[in-house]
Amino acid sequence: MITANLPAPFTLISLDDAGSTNDEARRLSQSEAAADLLVVAATTQSAGRGRRGRAWVSPAGNLHASWLIRVESLHHAAQLGFAAAAGLVSALAELVPGPQFQAKWPNDVLADGRKCCGMLLESAGPRWLVLGIGVNVVAAPPPEGLNHPACCLADHGYDGGAGAVLEAFCRHFHPLLTGWRHTGFAPIRAAWLGCARGLGQPTVVRLEHDTQTGTFAGLDDEGALLLDQGASGIRRILAGDVFFPDAR
Ligand code: BTN
Repeated sequence: MITANLPAPFTLISLDDAGSTNDEARRLSQSEAAADLLVVAATTQSAGRGRRGRAWVSPAGNLHASWLIRVESLHHAAQLGFAAAAGLVSALAELVPGPQFQAKWPNDVLADGRKCCGMLLESAGPRWLVLGIGVNVVAAPPPEGLNHPACCLADHGYDGGAGAVLEAFCRHFHPLLTGWRHTGFAPIRAAWLGCARGLGQPTVVRLEHDTQTGTFAGLDDEGALLLDQGASGIRRILAGDVFFPDAR
């Protein structure tokens, strides 16, 4: 079981196994236990989900957790994924000296250019958001079938366990969440862009039916990636797989 001493106001429900912690959190949102910043963590997930319908391999030792977040409306909810990614980058930089941690659009976290964390934001009715985070602490998925190279924190010498990652994330995420609730997206966007991979660099975006190229120019208010295509203008990307051929 993942154990962690979470700072207030986070509360933890720790399970041995879940299908998906996002599903558990959604189920709790419809129950009397529903509470802002309730965290559901599971040692393993038998049906862990990634973005775009992909599976998320969820072995014991990695972190699988979902946060129930109360929102006024779902209108700007995607902005919270950027707050979470920026918080996770600073939490991991504190815990794991050595690698460069960066945020990669939309909500991944990379260590020295390799993906070590993914996030899945889902709504649960009109007032709840579920933020699911998977961190490869002790194991990365096998390279076959991956679009991007992956790694785990243990590859960088980390042996502090999933609970310490959970605790550090809550500590770093909370001020960002509070700032977002009071002042909106501007400070979150600045924090995220400050640790983003590929900003200002040549970018390839693989969409469902075609591929677009340009320069990664920023984020708009909905969290869309702004792709500067020169004479063709700025294209907003809301979903796609992003590659930075020259990034380091
Ligand atoms: C991605 O990069 O595609 C997103 C991965 C999100 C995985 C986490 S693990 C905890 C939570 N439960 C899930 O089923 N998915 C998220």
